[in-house]
Amino acid sequence: MTDRLDGLDLAAAAPFVDADAVRQMWAAQRDYDVNRWLLPLPPWAKRRYDDPGPRAWESLRRRLAADTSQRPFCIYLHVPFCSRKCGFCDSYSFKLGAQQAGRIEDYVNRLCDELRLWSALGGLARRPVSTVHLGGGTPTFLGAAALRRIVACCRDHFNAGPETEWALESTVEALTPGMVAAMHEMGFRRLHLGIQSLQDEVRAAIGRRRSAAEALAKIRETRALGWVVSVDIICGLPFQTLAGFMDGLAALIEAGVNGVSLYELLIYRQNRHWAEQHGLTGRSHVPNYGMFLAGAFYLEGRGFHKNLFNHWADTLDTNVYFTFPQRGEDLLAVGTTADGVFGDYHYRHPRYAAYMDAPPPGLEGGLPKTAAEKTLWPLMTAILSGRLSAEKRGELENLAGESLLRRWMVNRLVVPTAGGLELTPAGSWFAGNMLAELAEAPLKIQPGGSMIST
Ligand SMILES: C[S@@+](CC[C@H](N)C(=O)[O-])C[C@H]1O[C@@H](n2cnc3c(N)ncnc32)[C@H](O)[C@@H]1O
Ligand code: SF4
Repeated sequence: MTDRLDGLDLAAAAPFVDADAVRQMWAAQRDYDVNRWLLPLPPWAKRRYDDPGPRAWESLRRRLAADTSQRPFCIYLHVPFCSRKCGFCDSYSFKLGAQQAGRIEDYVNRLCDELRLWSALGGLARRPVSTVHLGGGTPTFLGAAALRRIVACCRDHFNAGPETEWALESTVEALTPGMVAAMHEMGFRRLHLGIQSLQDEVRAAIGRRRSAAEALAKIRETRALGWVVSVDIICGLPFQTLAGFMDGLAALIEAGVNGVSLYELLIYRQNRHWAEQHGLTGRSHVPNYGMFLAGAFYLEGRGFHKNLFNHWADTLDTNVYFTFPQRGEDLLAVGTTADGVFGDYHYRHPRYAAYMDAPPPGLEGGLPKTAAEKTLWPLMTAILSGRLSAEKRGELENLAGESLLRRWMVNRLVVPTAGGLELTPAGSWFAGNMLAELAEAPLKIQPGGSMIST
């Protein structure tokens, strides 16, 4: 068997993982093309909204008025601002131009107006809040005073208590000592740090101004405060080497991280120019896949377990917000481009200008899950969680027949564990393909919503 995966020399992973295991996993995927992996997509990405914004809001009002449950839910707030736009980034984020302070104030006012509206719906203000997560962009870019207003608004209008986990995303640069102290005082105990890579050459190419040593020091400092610290790492950046990537993971574990999300560098319209400059367009995905697999094997060998298809966590890292469906929770999302889910209903906000122009809540549109999506949602949630219980495995076999499961097993996307199934590192790479195959499997839906496989 070859040592190289399209130019990636797996020998460099050998001090960390069994390179043969990586090679064998790659060789097992005969029915799947590494270059054609799919992202798991929400319903709004696959079809048009059923309801324009105002009708979506009416629908949500009705649903929430009728919902008397005391189920916990998550709050996600999107902050699209950054000190500059990184060339590699595909997130909805941008640098503010003139009148930065005023724009931040307007945006925070707008978020709080929206939060107040939601809190008046049904019993939402009384339901416990499991997590408040500020994503971006770079929420720490708002500064401590603006963050304090958002936190106060959430506490004043929702049932956030001692059990609520307060989380936000930041760059190392924006996490100044003053910001760390302010966050701690506000109650933040979970940090998502965008590390991307710990190779200084790579960091320079992606415009990170802080060194790897500073990034690691920041992780140690925040871990010492008792925070849960999760980091983002990308496979496929310029100048990245497998040895540097593996060294980086080892250093992160050494520094005490609780969780690692692994991504492949995605190239879309907004970062295509940067990618072209670095000769990354038209690339083979295979070396990135090899890196991803080696990283996944290593994290698993060091005792991390997936609680999401691309997130490896220790025992303290249990509550990452995007696992809300696994916990049977709803997601209240506010802010530009934020998308939320209440029961079977998905809704989404527009881009910045339209969001700021519209009266709150300013939704862009919404759509209920189809009968098929409703039935498949628990199974899809389980796949995305990285494991299927024995019961879910049975449901999968009933619903899609044995052949799909056999295909996943033969291609080593899943392996049996304790009666159920677990996604392998390759399964993490192909999780979106697995969901697409499930959605396309021949299924028969009965009027009551139950389903029989054909
Ligand atoms: C919304 S960003 C926020 C993080 C923070 N602003 C930072 O830059 O460190 C969340 C994560 O998305 C990931 N990301 C950004 N651009 C990406 C791309 N083109 N492909 C894959 N992942 C990307 C990065 O790992 C990043 O940390
Ligand atoms: S990578 Fe982070 S800091 Fe850079 S533009 Fe994207 S969200 Fe902003």
